[in-house]
Amino acid sequence: MASGGSFLSWLIFVFVGILGFISFPAEAAVKKYQFDIQVKNVSRLCHAKPIVTVNGRFPGPTIYVREDDRVMINVTNYAQYNMSIHWHGLKQYRNGWADGPAYITQCPIQTRSSYTYDFNVTGQRGTLWWHAHILWLRATVYGAIVIMPKQGTLYPFPQPKMEVPIILGEWWNSDVEEVEKQGTQMGLPPNMSDAHTINGKPGPLFPCSDKPIVPLKVDRNLFYTIGFGKDSCPTCVNGTRLLASLNNISFVMPQIGLLQAHYFNINGVFKTNFPDKPPTPFNYTGVPLTASLGTVHGTRLSKIAFNSTVELVLQDTNLLTVESHPFHIHGYNFFVVGTGIGNFDPAKDPAKYNLVDPVERNTVGVPTGGWTAIRFRADNPGVWFMHCHLELHTGWGLKTAFVVEEGPGSDQSILPPPKDLPPC
Ligand SMILES: *[C@@H]1O[C@H](CO)[C@@H](O)[C@H](O)[C@H]1NC(C)=O
Ligand SMILES: *[C@@H]1O[C@H](CO)[C@@H](O)[C@H](O)[C@H]1NC(C)=O
Ligand SMILES: *[C@@H]1O[C@H](CO)[C@@H](O)[C@H](O)[C@H]1NC(C)=O
Ligand SMILES: *[C@@H]1O[C@H](CO)[C@@H](O)[C@H](O)[C@H]1NC(C)=O
Ligand SMILES: *[C@@H]1O[C@H](CO)[C@@H](O)[C@H](O)[C@H]1NC(C)=O
Ligand SMILES: *[C@@H]1O[C@H](CO)[C@@H](O)[C@H](O)[C@H]1NC(C)=O
Ligand SMILES: *[C@@H]1O[C@H](CO)[C@@H](O)[C@H](O)[C@H]1NC(C)=O
Ligand SMILES: *[C@@H]1O[C@H](CO)[C@@H](O)[C@H](O)[C@H]1NC(C)=O
Ligand SMILES: *[C@@H]1O[C@H](CO)[C@@H](O)[C@H](O)[C@H]1NC(C)=O
Repeated sequence: MASGGSFLSWLIFVFVGILGFISFPAEAAVKKYQFDIQVKNVSRLCHAKPIVTVNGRFPGPTIYVREDDRVMINVTNYAQYNMSIHWHGLKQYRNGWADGPAYITQCPIQTRSSYTYDFNVTGQRGTLWWHAHILWLRATVYGAIVIMPKQGTLYPFPQPKMEVPIILGEWWNSDVEEVEKQGTQMGLPPNMSDAHTINGKPGPLFPCSDKPIVPLKVDRNLFYTIGFGKDSCPTCVNGTRLLASLNNISFVMPQIGLLQAHYFNINGVFKTNFPDKPPTPFNYTGVPLTASLGTVHGTRLSKIAFNSTVELVLQDTNLLTVESHPFHIHGYNFFVVGTGIGNFDPAKDPAKYNLVDPVERNTVGVPTGGWTAIRFRADNPGVWFMHCHLELHTGWGLKTAFVVEEGPGSDQSILPPPKDLPPC
């Protein structure tokens, strides 16, 4: 629910870009716009309803002008309502005729009639907005006005990379005029809106919004421990060197690309026997474990069925020392459904997962001495690397890869390799 007391209130924040830094002064231009007031069916929050729009757009079109331009906006009304439009914040020097509030500076534009708002933009620049100024039609009839400086005049800040108008609004599932009428009849404040909107959209927390879906059912549960280890190394200081491992396997780099080996069925490059859980469970985050710091070495991958849903819990350990690790997966975004300090408890922790609005990422930090649970749908066939993004740890072997099988469909297999794929 939208918070109370903010009926029909909007703000516009705009990061204004510079559309040209031409260093000679130019003639002021005439900018013409055609605004057709049309009724259009629009659906938000699973509720479709006819709304009044400009040119069928919600929010309406953005007006771009320069300071000193003359602006002519021909508003033609095809809706059943009378209409008037206010150019909010425009100074309209000596020119109230173009200001817009119905029955204040003009009679409304009646159905099937036109009126051209004709005004000069003088002495101001920045971002403003326009909106209907009759009844409650500004619930859906609104948009942004961007006033750029005169040609050859700079903004008082460096040129931004891009410009995005951000228009805040509200959405009612019911007809807004009916909401207002009912409130007036009952002598009560009208019903609150059902959602706030940004650029006309309520965002992914609301029903019927475009949003990615967290897998709720898991086909494959993976539990990987992150550990440090030591290898003997006669030439090294004290005769050992540091290593890192996942499920006690320190990854050994192959001599040819794993994807090639998989695609061309080249044997002996990797094995798909990466364990789904640590070979020997232990108190992962207990007192520092220094007794057995040996690890297994291997180019071992995990095979994942096409389009299966995977949950992976990454568990930091106190092998040598606990540390935070930024884990990155190639080929996918994943949802971070849970995280905690200490040992992951498969009996209790899943109940605390966020399966409603988890963040979607490609990299996630596994906390020092803790765990992170992620979920993804393996719908991208191929060989996909997964590694700690600290280069030092990656080099020590803190990495593996998933072999995601192909699907039955013609568009579910790995594309053939490019002709210029570098040979090893
Ligand atoms: C809106 O949808 C209704 C019901 O589906 C339909 O009767 C009406 O013609 C549509 N109006 C417009 C303007 O498309
Ligand atoms: C405004 O638009 C309407 C509809 O297209 C048109 O009939 C009318 O001539 C236009 N007015 C001006 C001043 O251009
Ligand atoms: C539209 O405006 C005209 C002129 O002000 C007025 O006579 C008429 O009643 C209005 N129509 C509606 C539906 O409000
Ligand atoms: C806008 O500026 C032009 C050019 O100076 C002038 O002819 C016109 O009358 C001005 N219009 C208004 C509404 O002030
Ligand atoms: C306003 O809210 C009340 C209570 O939820 C509801 O019964 C009524 O239908 C709503 N009015 C409109 C016009 O949607
Ligand atoms: C080598 O061993 C000595 C004595 O145990 C120790 O003080 C030193 O820190 C060790 N050096 C490294 C690089 O581990
Ligand atoms: C794990 O180690 C911690 C700290 O050393 C200890 O408090 C905890 O009881 C141990 N847990 C188990 C299951 O042994
Ligand atoms: C890892 O493997 C090595 C070699 O088999 C073994 O000595 C060590 O105990 C294992 N460590 C863990 C934590 O499983
Ligand atoms: C993957 O599985 C889901 C759920 O069964 C299904 O909706 C989707 O179409 C599948 N995707 C592919 C690419 O097969």
